[in-house]
Formats: sequence, C-alpha cells, structure tokens
Amino acid sequence: MEKIIILDFGSQTTQLIGRRIRELNTYCEILPYNKFPEGDENIKGVILSGSPFSVNDQDAFRVDLSPIRKKYPVLGICYGAQLLAFSSGGKVEKGDSREYGRANLSSLNESDSLLKGISVNSQVWMSHGDTITVLPKNFEIIAETKDVEAAAYQIQGEATWGVQFHPEVYHTEQGALILDNFLHICGCKKDWSPASFIQTTVKALQEQLGNDKVILALSGGVDSSVTAMLLHKAIGNRLTCIFVDNGLLRKNEFERVLKDYEHLGLHVIGIDAKDRFYKALEGVKEPEKKRKIIGKGFIDVFDEEAKKLQEVKWLGQGTIYPDIIESLSITGTVIKSHHNVGGLPEKMQLKLVEPLRLLFKDEVRRVGKELGMMPHLIERHPFPGPGLGVRILGEITPEKVRILQDADDIFIQGLRSWGLYHQVWQAGVILLPIQSVGVMGDERTYENAVALRAVTSTDAMTADWAHLPYDFLSKISNEIINKVRGVNRVVYDISSKPPSTIEWE
Ligand code: XMP
Repeated sequence: MEKIIILDFGSQTTQLIGRRIRELNTYCEILPYNKFPEGDENIKGVILSGSPFSVNDQDAFRVDLSPIRKKYPVLGICYGAQLLAFSSGGKVEKGDSREYGRANLSSLNESDSLLKGISVNSQVWMSHGDTITVLPKNFEIIAETKDVEAAAYQIQGEATWGVQFHPEVYHTEQGALILDNFLHICGCKKDWSPASFIQTTVKALQEQLGNDKVILALSGGVDSSVTAMLLHKAIGNRLTCIFVDNGLLRKNEFERVLKDYEHLGLHVIGIDAKDRFYKALEGVKEPEKKRKIIGKGFIDVFDEEAKKLQEVKWLGQGTIYPDIIESLSITGTVIKSHHNVGGLPEKMQLKLVEPLRLLFKDEVRRVGKELGMMPHLIERHPFPGPGLGVRILGEITPEKVRILQDADDIFIQGLRSWGLYHQVWQAGVILLPIQSVGVMGDERTYENAVALRAVTSTDAMTADWAHLPYDFLSKISNEIINKVRGVNRVVYDISSKPPSTIEWE
C-alpha cells in the first residue's frame, strides 16, 4: 500500500498534516523524526514537519537527510523547510513578530508544480519564530509574502520543496491544494478508502495470525466493535469475544449489545459478573479506589474466561491512532503504554494485535459503516470504562445503580426522540450523594438529587456544556421525577472543561 511518511519534529500541527493527507485519500504514517524506515518500498514521498525548536538551538532535532533527499519527493514545512536550508549551508535567524499569523502570497511562480492552481494573494498561515535569511545557492524562491521573502522554495534539480507557512491548517486557504499537488508530484494514486483499508488489513491479519486464536474484550463501543469485525472477517470463529456485565452498564445495555453482536455474526461470550463487582465495591467511596477495583475486577473475570479457552495466543485491542501518537515521545520511546484494558497483556502473556492502530476515530467509524455495522453501534456516545461507577458519587449499591440507570435511560431516549442525540458529544446522568426535601401529592419527600450532564466537544480534551432547549430540559426533569422512584430533584450541569471535567469522578 503506497504511503507518505511524515517525520515528526514535534510540532503541534503534525497530526493535522496526517489528517489532511488522509482526507486526500492517501495513506500516511507519522514517525519520530529520526525513525525513517529506510528500504520500505511503499514510500512515495516524505514530509518534514514543524517543530517547537529553532534549527539554531543546541538541542534542536537534527537528522541526516541523505537517505531521503533525491530519493523521494520531499516537502519541508516551517521548521522542516528551515532545516533543509540550514543543513545545505543556508542561514536561519530570528524573525520579527510580523511573521506570525495571517499573511498573503504577494508573488508566486505559477508554473511550479507545487503551486499549481494557487492564486496570488492567497492567504497563508505563518507561525515561526525564525525565518530563512540566506538561501543556499541552488534553492529557488517560488513564493513570497510581504514580510517573508522565502515563503516557499524549490531546490533546483531535486524534487524537494520547502514552505515556511503551514499548508495543513485551515487558515491557509489553499493549503489542501498544495498538499494535493505534492501527492501528485509523488505519483500517489489516492485510492486509500475504508474499503481498501479493510481489504489490506484483513489480508495482513491472516498472514500475521495464521491458524492462531485471538481473544478480545468488547465494550459495546465503536473501537472494540470494529476491531472485532475486522478480526472476524480475517479469522472467523478463531476469534472469541468477551463482554462483561460489571453491573455498571446503562439500562438493558448488556442484553442489547449482545443481540447487536449476534446480528453481526460474532462469537461472543457474555459474562454476568454484576454481583461480584457490587461485592468488591461495597463500602468504597474514594473515586480512585473505585476505579481500581472496577479495573481489576474486569481483568480477573477476563483472565478466568480466557483460561477456559484452549491455546489462545493473541489479545485483540481497539487501540486507535491518537492513542499511539500520545504514547510515543518524539524519540520513539514509550512514555505510557496505552491499553483499553490496562494490565491485561502482561498478566496473560499474550501477543497484541491492534488492527485499528493507524486510524483516526472518524476513520474507524467509516470502516465500521463499510463493514455493515448498524449506525447506532457506530455513532454511539463515548462511555467511560468504569461505566456508571464514575457517575455514582460515593458508595455504589445495586439500588443506586437502578436509580441512575432509570434516570439515564429517560435522558438518553429523550435526546434521541428530540433529535438532539447527535448534537452532543456525550451525555449522561450523575447520581449525587445528597438528599433534599420535596413534596409529592400531600407528602413531604426526602430523596436523591441527580444532575444531567451533556457536553459538546470534538475530542473530549475540552468541552462546553450543551445549550439544550429549556422545553426539553423541563420535560426530562418532570419525567425523571415522576417516573424514577427515589429522585425528587434534577439539576443541569453548566460547567465547561476545563476547569471542570466531563465525568464527575
Ligand atoms: P473527563 O472526565 O476526563 O473525560 O473530562 C474525558 C473523556 O474520557 C472518558 N473517561 C473515561 N474513559 N475510562 C474510559 O474508558 C475512564 O476511566 C474514563 N474516565 C473518563 C469520559 O467519559 C470522556 O469521554
């Protein structure tokens, strides 16, 4: 499968370059700047990213570019462009503040293949502290802005370009066209699609796994479900999935999800471990302790079930690309290992198979759709691993779980029937550890309060509280108080993240 390699020099926008290339239906991989995979025949071109460093810094990331230059088309972006110039004898110096932010291309060489179709005056986004002041002699300027002479250059006699602006950010109006031109220069066929991904991945899995057996923990979420589907397509019933009811799932979720998986043809073992979890959680109030108990409980149940199966060699995991990038430092060392089911691989001594490890979340959804999964499985809100356990403040009891499940179900079904479900990133109800006075009929009540939480977000790193219609909130509040025994007060959480978090524990 043809690919573009993006060498990461540490810029915050490196991931965005990856996104843009994928949006142009071309497969790419982001690798630490010093980990170029020499000898990989599928490489069609190389992009050098930006960096928080100046090329003049003592500890700047520098690398020998000889395995790359003149062997592949190369595009240096910002620091990448400065590094190319610097390492060929050019001069890079501190720029002034005029070189930050929006700028316009004041002149450009329209016949240059990287700038094909780009118009004079087109807006670009600069964000460098340094600027190239002296270009090596075979570097030819192909675009300028008012304040930056070498906004873009090409090295003569070589398919190597440098741009000191960022084509990957939206503020660079024709950035996608520049990247597309680069892919054209690289001779990319641009045929990366969910269907082609499925085809190549299934083949690769068959080669990797041979006749081995795989075990996988399902959570009902999109990542583990798509992972299961891909593995199933590759090795059929040599894949065994385990879905554990820890007693902290949404109302009827266990039965519903098992039925969904059955439709998909997966071999799933459903384990009802509710009582075991409730028992282990008895009397525990401290949030971190609760999390640890739930995590450990899961590992123990999974391990016991796995031992009943014969000769399993692999553990399937729904790790996705942002997890991988997050876990790799720029030098390629692992900062934190990312497991959806922390601790399992070590305990069970299984090899890991992670077919989604190079996909972004929306690509996972597209693959799921292509695999024929039902929309409600693919477009489901995120739900935390410890489930309702982090939404019951204080001690967890089966009765509190019942109250929360009923209230949560009314809220979520309400969002669906009012057409609001897809407008929010995630939603849920929190059972507060307080009672308050109320009146029902002629009777004084002293019962629980619940908080509704709904947020908008793009990545859960930051979030805003969803501005849901008052009519809707009013209807949900009435319905919960009327129907859920044990609740007499509903409040709406209007905190954003930061400084709050999405979950309450
Ligand atoms: P916070 O509360 O940190 O949540 O703003 C951010 C996102 O992560 C989810 N979340 C978890 N997911 N295990 C998970 O699998 C956890 O322990 C956990 N804690 C929070 C949360 O639902 C939100 O989507």
